[in-house]
Order: sequence, then structure tokens, then C-alpha cells
Amino acid sequence: MSLHKELIDRDRKVTFHASTHLRDFAHGDAPGRVISGGKGIHIVDKDGREFIDGFAGLYCVNIGYGRTEVAEAIYRQALELSYYHTYVGHANEPQIQLSEKILELAGPGMSKVYYGMSGSDANETQLKLVRYYNNVLGRPHKKKVISRMRGYHGSGIASGSLTGLKAFHDHFDLPIETIRHTEAPFYYQRSAEQSAMSEREFSHYCATKLEEMILDEGPDTVAAFIGEPVLGTGGIVPPPEGYWEAIQAVLAKYDVLLIADEVVCGFGRIGADFGSHFYGIKPDLITIAKGLTSAYQPLSGVIVGDRVWKVLEQGTGEFGPIGHGWTYSGHALGCAAGLANLEIIEREGLTQNAAETGAYLQQAMAKAFGDHPIVGNVRGVGMLAALEFSPDPAKRTQFDPGLKVGPRIATAAMDENLIARAMPQGDILGFAPPLTTSRAEVDEIVARARRAVDRVLDDLANNEDLK
Ligand SMILES: Cc1ncc(COP(=O)(O)O)c(C=O)c1O
Repeated sequence: MSLHKELIDRDRKVTFHASTHLRDFAHGDAPGRVISGGKGIHIVDKDGREFIDGFAGLYCVNIGYGRTEVAEAIYRQALELSYYHTYVGHANEPQIQLSEKILELAGPGMSKVYYGMSGSDANETQLKLVRYYNNVLGRPHKKKVISRMRGYHGSGIASGSLTGLKAFHDHFDLPIETIRHTEAPFYYQRSAEQSAMSEREFSHYCATKLEEMILDEGPDTVAAFIGEPVLGTGGIVPPPEGYWEAIQAVLAKYDVLLIADEVVCGFGRIGADFGSHFYGIKPDLITIAKGLTSAYQPLSGVIVGDRVWKVLEQGTGEFGPIGHGWTYSGHALGCAAGLANLEIIEREGLTQNAAETGAYLQQAMAKAFGDHPIVGNVRGVGMLAALEFSPDPAKRTQFDPGLKVGPRIATAAMDENLIARAMPQGDILGFAPPLTTSRAEVDEIVARARRAVDRVLDDLANNEDLK
């Protein structure tokens, strides 16, 4: 038996894997893979098989794999001090420097950084801050948070409630009370009656639906709105024209805080330091993770804007130290990795590369798939792209979900040694390669994806069961 197979067999007996068919995996009916290395945009498994990672892990390895510079920064910090807590004013040097750097990148209006370990826990912090804020302001009923259908904000009890995807709610009794979901800004999937709408009209429609929800709930009960600048796990959907402008006008009218979840967009992915800068979003609070360290260490954060910070200070003036803290907040190794990562992004101009090579990626995708017989929509921005499949692109119809067209295409891509992600809701294939990706690598990603989609098209045409 190969070492790889032996490791997978051992793993089946002992590990509970995320987002996995638990029974099939435990009983050997679903595949496993042990990843043992990576360099640039490639990863390699224990058999030595090499893949292009067209999704940068889970859109997080933005500087690519195998950066010894980051490993060395973590090592040096570990020799000096791996950990001390950051409660009651304790600090470590990389954490101070990283906070300075994050605030410099975030721009005016942002005041402080609170650290966590994951995007999910950072959004838990956001929800607590929003509650605290309104309690301090004497508005105990202003507590509801509006998210979007198809938004993704994590998978805890509260962050999973913010998420607007069925698979993350069903059988977990989510969402919790106080969370609502409004219209997804998903222009391609607008209804048949909305077919004639322009993007701007659709944005106006989304803003109107949000306003109706706020009025139905009662504006004095709605505390915050949370959204990703570009819908990520919900389908990689850039907002329709004018969307954020229209949404922000409604939020301002009813004194509703805006949380920008920048876990995917932050630190360069769409060709700007933050998605908020790209789309003219002025958030009160920002969630960061993933690209903050390019996943070399787990680290997340909440960037608190001036408006909320003032009230937090006022609150601790009245009630004493804030009752919120994680053991690993501001972890020295995470912060050292974050600093080394942001240095690489800056030095190598990776945000700029995401803008330029990202534009090339969008063109190459449009060229390869624009008139493909089962591709209904090619979309993306910067180094984020998606293909949405349809049996009849002209009518924007959807495949029978039982055919599992998206997962089939992702599997066909794996056969081409290309990792692209079958997004969890709908037949959508997502791409989010490292920000270091070159034009030649884009060409290779697109060529492999094209072969995978063509193969599934042939299967659909030739196999009666699949029609
Ligand atoms: C926008 C967004 N927010 C939050 C999260 C949750 O992050 P984590 O998986 O680190 O908890 C994710 C993860 O994909 C995300 O895409």
C-alpha cells in the first residue's frame, strides 16, 4: 500500500473533516487526499501529483505557497516570544506594527483593530460590538442585523446565522432570532419578470427591498447591515452597478451601521487594498481574515471605525472593562506572519497584479466561455471569477440540481490537475488563484477549465441519464 493511501485510511478513522459527507468519507466511499507541499500557485499531494490551485486554498493563500520569508518571520518571532495574551493592555511588537499597517491600508475613519483567529469569530465580535454600541446609546431594542441571502460570514451559531446559504442553516436550527436576510444582489439570477431591468434598476430594487424590510421590522429595532463587497461563497457575484451607493443611502436614512465583511476581498484580491475602496463603501466596521496572513497563520480581525470606537470608549467609562476577549487575540506568531505577508504584497505589487492580471483573467474567461453552450454567465472582478452553468444560456435556466453539474465539472477539472471550486449553492465553478498568478498561468488555468467543461458537456450529450 502506498504511504498516501495508508495515511488516508488512518485519517478516515480519526478526523472529522469540514464540509464533508461524514459517512461516505469514514467508510471509504468518498475520496481523500493528503497535501504535502506547495510552491507558487501549485500544490502537491503525498503521491507527488501536482495541481494548479485555482482557488488559493479557500481564497486565502494570496501570496502563493512556499514563501520561506514568512516561515522565517514566524520562526524568528517564536524564538523571541511565541505568545503572551493581549488582555488588560498587554501587547507584543508585531501586533502593534500590524495594527498600524492595517489602519494605514484601511484609510481615514478607522480607529482600532481587534484580533481573532478566523473570519467566523471576527463576525461574532462584530455582532457583540453592535449590541454593546446600542446598549451604550440607550437603544436596547436596536439589535437586529440584516444580512443578504447568499452572503457568507462564517459557520458559528451567530456567524452561521448571518450566512445566507441553506446548507449552513438546515438541521442546525439557524438562523437565530435577530438575524434577517434581504435580497441577494445577484443580477444574473433575477426573475423572468425582472428580465428587462438594467443593473441600476436591479440595484434600486435591492435597496427598496432593504428599506421595506427595515420599515417592516421597525427602524428602531435594526442595528446593522452586513455584506461582502463581492458575494463570495454565495456564488462569486460582483455587485450590480450602483448597488452599494443605493444600499448606503438606505442605511444612512435609518441610522443602521454598515459592516463590510472583507474576509475575501481585503488585502488585494480584487485589485484594491479593500473591496470597500473599490466600490466606494464607507463601513463603520470591517471584518478581515484570510489574505491578512495569506493563511500562513490563522489570524482575523475587526477594524473598528471612529463612530463605533467613541461609543465603546464611552461604554467602558460607564460599565468598566469590556467583557470580550479571546485567549489568542493578537497572537504574536499570527501578527508576525501578517506583517511578513503584507510586506510581500506591497513589495511585489500584488494588489496591482490582481488588478492587471485579474483583468486579463476576466478577458480570458470571457473569450473561452462567453458563447459556450452550457455557460450562462461568466463574471468576476480582479482575481475572483466564476462560471455559472445553464442548459439554456439564452433563457438563464438552471440544470436539475440532481445532475450535480457544478461538482461534476470541478471533478473533471481535478482530472486536469486544476483545482476550481464547485460553489455550494447552484451550478457555479469558482476561481480565486493566488495574487501572484502570471498571464501564462492564467492561460493554463483557462485551458484546463475549458477541457473540463467540454468533457462534462460531452457526458451530458452522450449519457441519457444526464440529460
Ligand atoms: C466573507 C467571509 N466571511 C467570513 C468567513 C469565515 O471565515 P472562517 O472560515 O475563517 O471562519 C469566510 C470564509 O470563507 C468568508 O468568505
